[in-house]
Amino acid sequence: MAVSIKSSREINLMREAGRILAVTHEELEKIIKPGISTLEINKAGEDIIRGFGCIPSFLNYNGYPASICLSVNDEVVHGIPSPDKILKEGDIVSIDAGVIYKGYHSDAARTIPVGEISEDTRQLIEVTKQSFFEGIKYAKEGCYLYDISAAINDYVDNFGYGVVRDLVGHGIGSSMHEDPQIPNFRQRRRGLKLQAGMTLAIEPMINAGRCDVEWLDDDWTVVTEDGSLSAHYENTVLITDGEPEILSILRN
Ligand code: MF3
Ligand code: CO
Repeated sequence: MAVSIKSSREINLMREAGRILAVTHEELEKIIKPGISTLEINKAGEDIIRGFGCIPSFLNYNGYPASICLSVNDEVVHGIPSPDKILKEGDIVSIDAGVIYKGYHSDAARTIPVGEISEDTRQLIEVTKQSFFEGIKYAKEGCYLYDISAAINDYVDNFGYGVVRDLVGHGIGSSMHEDPQIPNFRQRRRGLKLQAGMTLAIEPMINAGRCDVEWLDDDWTVVTEDGSLSAHYENTVLITDGEPEILSILRN
């Protein structure tokens, strides 16, 4: 398993890819409201990304037919935008997007409420987000990759939610998916020793119910087997010798 260490030039390009993606997410969050279709969100996202002179990395990736993955309620990831998918009050929508800037990738996802949502659903979104932050406490030089996995898993277990096991995070750089794979569940080993200059997309996918998922007939959309809601939170992260730098969140 070859895990690349990015040069400072590459890191700077990834910072810009991350910043553009963070802005894209902030803009998309603002338009999420009852009545909008997932195809409209996809169009807005593609326009924002292209407006920065970037390429939406998901478009045509392994044949994926859109720029943004939009996954509603029990859809875990990789939902395909459609004019017939109209968001309604109380839904949740996971927005997953990727950007290529001068050959370098960023990848990030957030789950957003549509209007007012229940307290239970709000907790699912918050726990999913917090599990990422629990995980990245170990995203630093000298720690081990699966310390991140274990920290995510342990935090989520406190709430009785299901950690999706069939999909994982990944290294990222001049390709969207690089080594290593990053599971969100506890491993028997501690795995790879982390080094400054590694760039990782860490992305817990958490189900309100059981962890099991299945694929719809479109061969893309992943849904929970038990029909429970699912949330997703992802950022592109730079390993340093100190605190990790989260490339896909805006810093003031
Ligand atoms: N963020 C996802 C990932 O890390 C989305 C890629 S799926 C795509 O794998 F096909 F739509 F690109
Ligand atoms: Co990803």
